[in-house]
Amino acid sequence: MTTTDRSLALHTLRHGHGLPVLLVHGFPFDHRMWLDVAAALPNGATVLAVDLPGAGQSPHGAEHASIEAAADGVVAAARAAGVERAVVVGMSMGGYVALAAAERHPEFTVALGLVDTKSTADTDEARANRLRIADAVTSSATVDAVLGMPGALLGATSKVARPALTARLEEWIRSQRPDGVAWAQRAMAARPDRTEVLARFAGPVTVVVGEEDTLTPVEAAEHMVAAARGTSLVLVQSAGHMSAVEEPAAVANALGDLWATAKG
Ligand code: MLT
Repeated sequence: MTTTDRSLALHTLRHGHGLPVLLVHGFPFDHRMWLDVAAALPNGATVLAVDLPGAGQSPHGAEHASIEAAADGVVAAARAAGVERAVVVGMSMGGYVALAAAERHPEFTVALGLVDTKSTADTDEARANRLRIADAVTSSATVDAVLGMPGALLGATSKVARPALTARLEEWIRSQRPDGVAWAQRAMAARPDRTEVLARFAGPVTVVVGEEDTLTPVEAAEHMVAAARGTSLVLVQSAGHMSAVEEPAAVANALGDLWATAKG
């Protein structure tokens, strides 16, 4: 079932019971990047996955692009579907959104799963690059500027052993809208460092990272683990930045343990 109206599209990937798991995708994708993880999560869990503003089936983002607006939209969509608390899991950009949800909606965010992401802000160089990409997709009205991303997203092992994944990621990227891609880049460029949010967060946290992730590498994961209390670090072998797609069973296993801890 998918709930849309004017709010963000929220997809129910599994009907279960107890505390729901809410999955937030990375850039430049939509909820489909979570399908294999969702299928491998514990049978009992209700699993929801959202499309961020301008991605997948969700409407345009607010005029002012921000990760805060994305987080508010995710929580509002969940509440509209009757979900008042959740284990919030974010991959990369989704992790930035999950940290903003923890900061702005702590009563909603009872546990955090941070997958191939980081808590720090962009460097000036990275920020300038994002704004350049946002301008390029807007002026060309295509997503061409991000079509080459799978080469950087997949780990070295996947590029050799899982050749079909490159085509899968490209297909997902091609289906995105240029305005949504530009919005996401501007939102990410404007985000602050949220390491302190982790230090204050009261619930359980699991940090997951592909050992071959070169975009948000193991050191970025260790930085988050050092900041938070009661954090588990899970290294996923033979996977890069897209560990949720490259090794979904291992990622689901880590998130299933987090869910079991959070639901008590
Ligand atoms: C993502 O996977 O969501 C992006 O690599 C995040 C980013 O560009 O910082």
